[in-house]
Amino acid sequence: MKTIGIITPGGDAPGMNAAIRAVARIAHSRNFKVLGFEKGWFGLLTDSKKILSPRAVGGIIQSGGTMLHTLRCVPFKTDEGIEKAANTLKTYNVDALVVIGGDGSFRGAYELSKKSDTNMIGIPATIDNDVFGTEETIGFDTAVNTAISAIDKIRDTAISHERIFIVEVMGRKRGFLALHIGVAVGAEIILIPEEECKIEKIIEVLETNSKKGKQTAIIVTAEGVGNTSDLVKEIARHTGSEVRLSILGYAQRGGRPTGRSRLLASLFAEKAVNLIMEKTANQVVGLRDGIISSISIEKSINTKKPVDLSLLKLAETLSI
Ligand code: F6P
Repeated sequence: MKTIGIITPGGDAPGMNAAIRAVARIAHSRNFKVLGFEKGWFGLLTDSKKILSPRAVGGIIQSGGTMLHTLRCVPFKTDEGIEKAANTLKTYNVDALVVIGGDGSFRGAYELSKKSDTNMIGIPATIDNDVFGTEETIGFDTAVNTAISAIDKIRDTAISHERIFIVEVMGRKRGFLALHIGVAVGAEIILIPEEECKIEKIIEVLETNSKKGKQTAIIVTAEGVGNTSDLVKEIARHTGSEVRLSILGYAQRGGRPTGRSRLLASLFAEKAVNLIMEKTANQVVGLRDGIISSISIEKSINTKKPVDLSLLKLAETLSI
């Protein structure tokens, strides 16, 4: 019997459990044994694992987080760590390792692929949506919707008090979350690391709005822009308005996955197992033009995914 391993080495994302469940069950139906390595790469270094039978992955499709747990694992990043992880895969005759995570996890998988005969297959799962090779990652839609429901509530206070709110969302160094959330909540301004926006421009938009009778604003800013508390002071100084900062933080990363995140997880898992059966090596699966496809891990980690800057213009047009 052949063996598939599953690992979730990076930050958790809603829908990871749905992906673990789907990989385990599809692999089982095709006569694979499935091992789940716990706490990410650490599980390969410490031989911490469990058998993922179809029943062992029952009752998790609706839960956020990862049932395999995760750990940002520094020792894995050394030559010795990679060697040890490769040995563990060899010991258990793991034919393929399904790595569920973001580009950091895929970088680890790529390094490991150089030292191991095990086929590495990446399933993109991160709220940041910053993986090249897929239009959407598992968890992104859930995080967007979680932020929308929080900001809709903040908007009530913004309108009632005629305040300006700066809402900081996650996304690491990229602006995918901020852009999608910003358009969906009707943000007056969206700030992302990919496009510099000077303070003068922000003040101009706010003052124009104020002259038109709009005394409130939601500014959605990506965490990668930085210096949010300085921005609060600057805007308050220039406009004389009450300005408040709300950092959504980790509340965006957990919670029940949306239908879309669960569906994507199931489709990506099916593709991952198909690639393993076809013996197509070292790929990242993804959604492109409505089709589930794959590209090499190497290409995925070495290519920067572009953001759709036209969404900034759209948000500006929509918030007049
Ligand atoms: O990659 C997902 C993410 O939540 C980012 O949006 C955020 O910058 C980062 O992880 C936080 O990392 P950590 O879990 O290590 O605090």
